[in-house]
Amino acid sequence: MSFAERVFSGVQPTGTLTLGNYLGAIRRFADFQDSYECLYCVVDMHAITVFQDPKELHRNTLGVTAAYLAAGLDPAKNIIFNQSQVAAHAEMAWIFNCVTRIGWLNRMTQFKEKAGKNRENASAGLYVYPSLMAADILTYKATHVPVGEDQKQHLELARDIAQKFNHDYGDAIRTQTNTDEFFPQPEPLIEGPAMRVMSLRDGTKKMSKSDPSDMSRINMDDDADTIAQKIRKAKTDPEPLPGEATGFIGRPEAENLIGIYAALAQEPKLAVVDRFAGTQFSEFKKDLTELAVSTLAPVSDELRRLKADPGHLETVLNEGAGRAAALAAPIIADTKAIVGFVGA
Ligand code: AMP
Ligand code: TRP
Repeated sequence: MSFAERVFSGVQPTGTLTLGNYLGAIRRFADFQDSYECLYCVVDMHAITVFQDPKELHRNTLGVTAAYLAAGLDPAKNIIFNQSQVAAHAEMAWIFNCVTRIGWLNRMTQFKEKAGKNRENASAGLYVYPSLMAADILTYKATHVPVGEDQKQHLELARDIAQKFNHDYGDAIRTQTNTDEFFPQPEPLIEGPAMRVMSLRDGTKKMSKSDPSDMSRINMDDDADTIAQKIRKAKTDPEPLPGEATGFIGRPEAENLIGIYAALAQEPKLAVVDRFAGTQFSEFKKDLTELAVSTLAPVSDELRRLKADPGHLETVLNEGAGRAAALAAPIIADTKAIVGFVGA
């Protein structure tokens, strides 16, 4: 059966957003707003799978909301909301905890990375994080999910959960809805040169909010001087830039900077490789700085302006939550009836 096309994505309110979040996810969100029904969520329930200071969680939730708006998302065209305000996410997540298999969760690389060596001490929430993520998406029967590369495995799990639910509850689904499939198989939208923006200090590590070194990342609200300094100090190697894609083998830092340039310029990576073939890093870095500053400055100015008016951001979230809850209501009610809960 075919499902109406719907886009869903989420970002955790856990610290300042990086260029990786912006290029890999948030900036792309705006591309869908004219052609799809879109929901963009601030996933505060995911954030607390690792302890968050309550005041900071509150501030960061408004911060991600501001980033969505600063990146060009129109709250009239998109549903912008925070996860904890729509109870259906938690209700669906519980049902999905009972569909997903421990063996599936054990394969999740993000859990292994985040839990680290002391797995016994990780929260149970961190372990079942992917089933809450599946609940986010499927509570709206969303079909398309724009994310960075690091989320690919979680999306595959969401597809497995949808499929197992459709299969295990097949008879009840046919009785309740007259169809064979209740949930769609959500598709990840992972494309472009910035699906995996790497650290400025180590081209083999993901650029991340949680890296202890601020020099490893460009933050969405860095000013022009800070951006210039971080790019100047970014790790490189002594060779000039290569003229073909194969020339990046063993040169992850060079590849990362070219990828960032291509994403900022919205040009294919190969066109950028061609233009800078044989150029020294010192020259290339000047061009990259100019491009980064001119692309990010309007966004960070807008971000600062929006953050200064928390009342407006709260209004956007409250309105979004109302609209999201209305979309979720019939889907969670059907889900409960399919499972056999009385009163749905
Ligand atoms: P998070 O900050 O983990 O909530 O991530 C929010 C979104 O940003 C997700 O779609 C991630 O895949 C994306 N993202 C985070 N870091 C990067 C990165 N270094 N490169 C590309 N995308 C990223
Ligand atoms: N797990 C995602 C991340 O860390 C955030 C997220 C939560 C998400 N729920 C989602 C992304 C649903 C897409 C769809 O980046």
